[in-house]
Amino acid sequence: MCFHHCRVWSGWQRVGYGRSVGRGFIGCMGVLFLATRALNAEQAIPRAEPVRFLPALKLWVLTTDHTSYVMGLNERNELQAAYWGERLEGDEGLAPLHAAPEHASFDSSETMTNLEYPGWGGRYYNEPALKVILANGVRDLVLKYVSHEIRDDTLVIRLKDIQYDLFVDLTYRVFPKEDIIRKQARLENRTPDSITLESVQAGVWYAPPGEGYRLTYLTGRWAGETQLTRTPIHPGKIVLESRRGNTSHQLNPWFAIDAGQADEEHGRVWFGAVGWSGNWKLVIEDTPPAHQVRVTGGYNDFDFSWLLKPGETFETPPYYGGYSARGFGGASRLMHRFERDEILPDHDRPHVRPVLYNSWEATTFNVSEEGQKALAEKAARIGVELFVVDDGWFGQRNDDHAGLGDWYVNPQKFPHGLQSLIRYVNQLGMEFGLWFEPEMVNPNSDLYRRHPDWVLNFPGRPRSEARNQLVLNMARDDVKEYILGALDKILSENNIRYIKWDMNRHLSEPGWPEAPLAEQKEVWVKYVRHVYEIMDRLRARHPGLEIESCSGGGGRVDLGVLERANVVWTSDNTEAFDRLRIQEGFTFAYAPKVMSSWVTDVPNLNGRSTPLKFRFLVAMQGALGIGANLNKWSDEDFSLAKQMVAYYKSVRETVQSGDLYRLFSPREGELTANEYVARDGQQVVLFAFLHSQQFLRPAPTIFLRGLDEQAQYRVKTTDDRLVEKAEVMSGSFLMHHGLNFSLRGDYDSTLVVLTKAH
Ligand code: DGJ
Repeated sequence: MCFHHCRVWSGWQRVGYGRSVGRGFIGCMGVLFLATRALNAEQAIPRAEPVRFLPALKLWVLTTDHTSYVMGLNERNELQAAYWGERLEGDEGLAPLHAAPEHASFDSSETMTNLEYPGWGGRYYNEPALKVILANGVRDLVLKYVSHEIRDDTLVIRLKDIQYDLFVDLTYRVFPKEDIIRKQARLENRTPDSITLESVQAGVWYAPPGEGYRLTYLTGRWAGETQLTRTPIHPGKIVLESRRGNTSHQLNPWFAIDAGQADEEHGRVWFGAVGWSGNWKLVIEDTPPAHQVRVTGGYNDFDFSWLLKPGETFETPPYYGGYSARGFGGASRLMHRFERDEILPDHDRPHVRPVLYNSWEATTFNVSEEGQKALAEKAARIGVELFVVDDGWFGQRNDDHAGLGDWYVNPQKFPHGLQSLIRYVNQLGMEFGLWFEPEMVNPNSDLYRRHPDWVLNFPGRPRSEARNQLVLNMARDDVKEYILGALDKILSENNIRYIKWDMNRHLSEPGWPEAPLAEQKEVWVKYVRHVYEIMDRLRARHPGLEIESCSGGGGRVDLGVLERANVVWTSDNTEAFDRLRIQEGFTFAYAPKVMSSWVTDVPNLNGRSTPLKFRFLVAMQGALGIGANLNKWSDEDFSLAKQMVAYYKSVRETVQSGDLYRLFSPREGELTANEYVARDGQQVVLFAFLHSQQFLRPAPTIFLRGLDEQAQYRVKTTDDRLVEKAEVMSGSFLMHHGLNFSLRGDYDSTLVVLTKAH
C-alpha cells in the first residue's frame, strides 16, 4: 500500500491535469498512478472508490455506500465545500467552484463562501476553524491550497497561510459502509517563532443552503442525561459546549440536523459528533443572507490557548459527519454500526458484553471481603458473568470524605488483599472488575498530604471541593506517571479483567502554576490527552483489559473515550421509567452495546416502584447489569432474574449488535417500544412497555420494521400479552398488520422474539 507523497499540482500555480506540472510536482510513480487514476476516474468512474480527485474540475469527491461529499478549489485557490448528501451517481453536473459573489461591502465574499477550513483573517466573519497570533503580533490568517495526497479511503489536503509557514493538513477518512466521514486537522509550525493558537476546530459541516432546518441534540443533568431536544435553527448561533473539563452530562458532543420534516424512518438527516472527552464546542450557525447552516466543531476555544513552537504540530480531535435519508432511526443505526465496527476497542474482534453485577447500590462504601463474597455467590446463581466491586475498597475510603488517591487495598476490609475475593469470584465462573477514580484526590488522603501541589490550583486562591474532592492536574507528567503506576500495580498483582473509571466532579480553578505562563491554558487539552494515554497504556500492558467510562453516570460519553472504553455507565439514575427516556436519547448517538443498564431495587431515586420484570426488560435493551442488593431478594425474585438473564443471553447478540428501530417513544405517549433486528436478519427482538396508561385505552398496534416481507417468522413470547396467537407470521404481516398487546395499567411490559424460519 503506497501513500502518495506527491503533489498532483501546486496550489501556487494553477496547474491542471494534462499540462506541465509546475512547482510542487514531485516526479514519482505515485503521481503517475494517481494522475492516471484521476483521468480514468473522469472517463469511467469506479463507483466504489472512496476518494477521487477530478483535476479538470479541481474537485474531490468522497463516496460512501449511500452518500457523496464534494469539495474543491475556487478561483482564489481556497478549499470550498460543495455538496454533502445523497450519493451522486456520476459526476455529471459537477462544475468548478467559484467563491460567492459580493453583493455589498457588508457581505464579504469570504464570509459568504463555504470554506472548508476558514482561518480568521481577511474579511471572514463567521465562526473560524482556526485563529492564531503570530510572534510578530499578526492575527490575520488566510489559508490556501498547497497539495494533497490520497491513500485508499483517506485524503489529506494541505493548506498554508498566504505568507507564513503555518501549514494545516486536513485529513478526511471515508467509512463507506457506515456513510460516515471523519475530518481532522493537524497544524504544523514551520516558522522560526512560536505561534499562539487561540481557536482550533476540527472542521465545518455544511447543510444545503435553505431555511426551515431543525437541530436535534442531547441535553441533561446528573441523573437525567441524554434528553432529546429539538429546536428550529434561525439566523444566529447555537453553541453546544462543555467548559467543565470532561464531556459533561449537560450537553453531549453530538448533533443532527434535518430539513424540518424528518421523523424516525423518513427524511434527510445530517449528523455529526466530536470525539473528545474534554472541553468541546459545536457552533450551529445560520448565516444570512443565504441561510447557510454550518456546524463548526472541535476544541472549545473558551479559556483555550496553545503555544505552538517552531517545528511542532498540533492535532484536533476527530470530527465525524454522516448523512441518512432514512430519518433519525437511519442516522442512529449508522452511528451504532460505526461505533461497533470502527471505534470500540474490540471493533476488530467483537464479542458480546457479559452480564455484570455491581455492588454499589447494594453496599455503597461498606464493602468487605465477606460481604462481596456473599453477593458474588448470589450473582453467579442468576447467571452473572462479570462481578465488579465499586467504590470503597481502597485507602481509608469509608465514605466520600477520604481515600481518593490512595490506591492500595484497605487491609481492614480485605485482610487477604483482593486475591482471595478474586479467586472466589473466578471459581464461581465470573470475571472480576474493580472501580477507580484515578483523576481525583480527597484532601484527607496520603497522596494529598504528600503532594498538595498536584491538584489544579491558582496559588493563593480557593481550591473548590465537590463531593469533598479535588482534581489532580493530569496534565503534569509526574501525576500522569504516578496514576499509571498505581493502577498498573494493582492490575499486575490481581486478575482484574475490567475497570470502571469514574470521575465525580468537573474541573475548577484550572491553574497550573508550574508551567510557563503562556502554556498554562494548555492544561485543558493535555489533561484529557494524558487520561487517554493512561487508558491506552494500561490496555497495552494488560491485554484483554476492558474499561467502563463513568462520570457520575453519563458524564463522559463520546467517540473519543469510546476508542478506549468498551462500555459506558449511562446514568446514576437506574429507575426504570426514567431510564426509558435516558436510554432513548442515548441511542440517538450511541450504540446499545455500550449502554450499561442495571436492574436495581425499588423504590429508587424518585420513589417510583416498577415490577422486577419491567426493570429487567428496560435494562435488557442495552448491556445488562444487575445492581440490586441480592441479599434482600426473595426466592421469586431469584427465579425471575435467572429466567430473564437466560433470556437476555439468548437475544443479546441481536440487542447489542443488531439494528435498532425505535417504534414508540417514551416522550410521546403511554407506550414505549423498541425493536432490534439481528445483523443477519435471523432474529428480531421486540420490547414493549406500557406506562402512564389512562382511560383504559388499549395499547396501540405495533408495526415492526426492517423485516423481510416475504419471510416467515416463528414467534416466541414470554407471557400471554400478545393478542395474535399464530406461531408463524410473515414479515409483511408483522410490518403491515402489526402486533397487538393486551398490556394493562402502569409498568406492564413484554418481550417477543421472532426467528426467521428457513
Ligand atoms: C458515581 C457512579 O456513577 C456510581 O455508579 C458509583 O460508582 C459511585 N460514583 C461511586 O462513588
